[in-house]
Amino acid sequence: MAVSYKDLGLVNTREMFKRAIKGGYAIPAFNFNNLEQLQAIITASSELKSPVILQVSKGARNYANPTLLRYMAEGAVAYAKELGCAHPEIVLHLDHGDSFELCKSCVDMGFSSVMIDGSALPYEENIALTKKVVEYAHQFDVTVEAELGVLAGVEDEVASEVSHYTKPEEVVDFATRTGCDSLAISIGTSHGAYKFTPEQCTRDPKTGRLVPPPLAFDVLAEIEKQLPGFPIVLHGSSSVPQEYVDIINKFGGKLPNAVGIPEEQLRKASKSAVCKINIDSDSRLAYTAGVRETLAEHPDYFDPRQYGKVARNYMIDMYKHKITDVLGSENKLAE
Ligand code: G3H
Ligand code: 13P
Ligand code: ZN
Repeated sequence: MAVSYKDLGLVNTREMFKRAIKGGYAIPAFNFNNLEQLQAIITASSELKSPVILQVSKGARNYANPTLLRYMAEGAVAYAKELGCAHPEIVLHLDHGDSFELCKSCVDMGFSSVMIDGSALPYEENIALTKKVVEYAHQFDVTVEAELGVLAGVEDEVASEVSHYTKPEEVVDFATRTGCDSLAISIGTSHGAYKFTPEQCTRDPKTGRLVPPPLAFDVLAEIEKQLPGFPIVLHGSSSVPQEYVDIINKFGGKLPNAVGIPEEQLRKASKSAVCKINIDSDSRLAYTAGVRETLAEHPDYFDPRQYGKVARNYMIDMYKHKITDVLGSENKLAE
């Protein structure tokens, strides 16, 4: 039976994006697959009074089970209230939807926002598919994110070796003809924990760490000029904190040369029309660091709560840091 997100206490992205653009900050969009990640996201965002987007990929939805997910989202709203947020602003968003059918299924099962990712399709086909999703979703006041331009790296069903920056001359036509509510763009970010090859980076002489090249802020500025006030989304925005990479590598992991987007670039983006910043890999890293460290130090542990608790605390710290020190969404609830 179909369920509306409104009955689950969720909100769509429209109002929060308006406020974020005006206020010069970005809303965190954190991916989750399981209980500990959800607990950590809700704890961090509720304690800091931040709006938040719970983001679920097709793979995550299959992993968690679509029915269970709907109740987890409803539970997240109740939990946020318990943590002291009288009016939490929580979005349940489909990340990288790859078909009309998947988007429809999410709209019908309580999502308040969906992404249709037609970025790998020819331009006209991307428009046609996005428009179809928008027409369906808007009947239920569900907001729609679309994508123009291609990110390097692997997305659930969309993979590309190389990135193609969004063409600013296409964005007005695309946004007008599709009616999408927000637009994900490509300006040099990519998915995963290896965003740049060592050859694309320089090295910090003091630390020996890789220093990635800057994002294409000139492309972002041109897009903003073409679409003033329109909500822009940045995917692939994990910063791949080296503290977690080091812990993972110290305790048996192997993540050589993992590198992300420097935080000062994300801070700069948050002040622009970029009003949604997607973070998944950093949660995976914090989680894995907590699990590896705990199990290495306590070989006798076999209760998942023993290492799950450490992993969850690492994620809470990481999410809080993003909210307060990078995206600037602390204390930004409407009431
Ligand atoms: O953009 C991709 C997200 O990080 C989700 O990844 O498809 O492995 O769940 P996933
Ligand atoms: P990261 O891999 O940089 O966390 O990107 C996540 C993302 O864009 C989800 O859509
Ligand atoms: Zn993405």
